[in-house]
Amino acid sequence: MRLAVRMPPGPVLPFAAGRAPRLPLWAAPMAGGPSSTALLATVGAAGGLGVLPGGYLTPEAFEQRLDALAAASPAPWAVNLFLPGPPTADPEGVAAHAAALGPLAAAHGVALGEPRWEDDAIDAKVELLAGRRPAAVTLTFACPDPGLVGRLRDATGALVVATTTTPAEAAEATAAGVDALTVQGSEAGGHRGAFRDDPAAPGGGQLVPLLDLLRRTRAETPLPLLAAGGLMSGADVRRALDAGASGAQLGTAFLCTPEAGTSPTHRRALLDRRYAGTTVTRAFTGRPARGLANPMATAHPGAPSAYPEVHHLTRPLRAAAAEQGDPDAVHLWAGEGWRGVTEEPAGDLVRRIARDAGLGDG
Ligand SMILES: Cc1cc2nc3c(=O)[nH]c(=O)nc-3n(C[C@H](O)[C@H](O)[C@H](O)COP(=O)(O)O)c2cc1C
Repeated sequence: MRLAVRMPPGPVLPFAAGRAPRLPLWAAPMAGGPSSTALLATVGAAGGLGVLPGGYLTPEAFEQRLDALAAASPAPWAVNLFLPGPPTADPEGVAAHAAALGPLAAAHGVALGEPRWEDDAIDAKVELLAGRRPAAVTLTFACPDPGLVGRLRDATGALVVATTTTPAEAAEATAAGVDALTVQGSEAGGHRGAFRDDPAAPGGGQLVPLLDLLRRTRAETPLPLLAAGGLMSGADVRRALDAGASGAQLGTAFLCTPEAGTSPTHRRALLDRRYAGTTVTRAFTGRPARGLANPMATAHPGAPSAYPEVHHLTRPLRAAAAEQGDPDAVHLWAGEGWRGVTEEPAGDLVRRIARDAGLGDG
């Protein structure tokens, strides 16, 4: 029996010819390991769109990842870049956080890292995209300026997509000339994509749940919207599409698939239910991010707004803890839907979600 296919009611994402995925299902960029080449290629083969995370990588490593994906998959793909914010970290706040974490680092046999600002090599990464053919270039952590939007579009022919967490950010990104928006609800795992991290707000800004945010964003912009945050099932995706999204982006749902590069410590913590829920914290990187509420996430509610300084400060500690199999001091990014993670192969996951969302079988 063929199921009736209900495509998203939102505006069509205007992909360049030959670059549209068969399904409006995107595997979210997950920097730091989870978005392996195998995961991206498998999602692409199943008809979804895998987003290669450029964040944290050196330009050399970024180029290798681009080449590896091109070799592994003929399917359309996308790429994600971190946009740097200004170096505004308060040195006293960073020093206080370092003092609070010193004993924990020592207990793991490492020294904390040097807190430093850098721009994630954004210019070199933009240059490396020239001549490549991603379906989309998605951006997070800031509003792209119109010059960058034009540069990316001219160099790649891709859709340029900004990540937004409030209706005001959606209006700002629309004015900057992007082609579409990733609308990141408060349920989302990983870093909040807010344009500015408000130090006075524990979550860095307003935390608006996805469906509400989609409706309010729809009122601000005519651009196609990609829904992200807490989407774990076909029913979740259908609700987001019915609220006006043109596609759905899922991160946490893929974390425990066999193809993902998620660390064993992170996987185990998601599957063994040792932590009761998730929380948004700056303790690991200096930028609000949602992860499992382990001791390091919950013990430092006053951690400073200082990205990427705190990222570099805590990196050796997090790496040592992960290696030692101690989940208590590792950033265990996860969205609010984390209890719905499965260990099924990523292709099966894409097909199940597509079917249950009424999108056909890809
Ligand atoms: C482990 C992990 C890493 C992430 N890394 C990135 C990233 O590199 N760039 C980005 O734009 N978003 C990143 N995100 C956020 C996702 O793009 C997306 O907003 C989120 O996964 C959606 O919520 P969900 O995890 O509940 O599906 C990450 C999320 C997770 C869980």
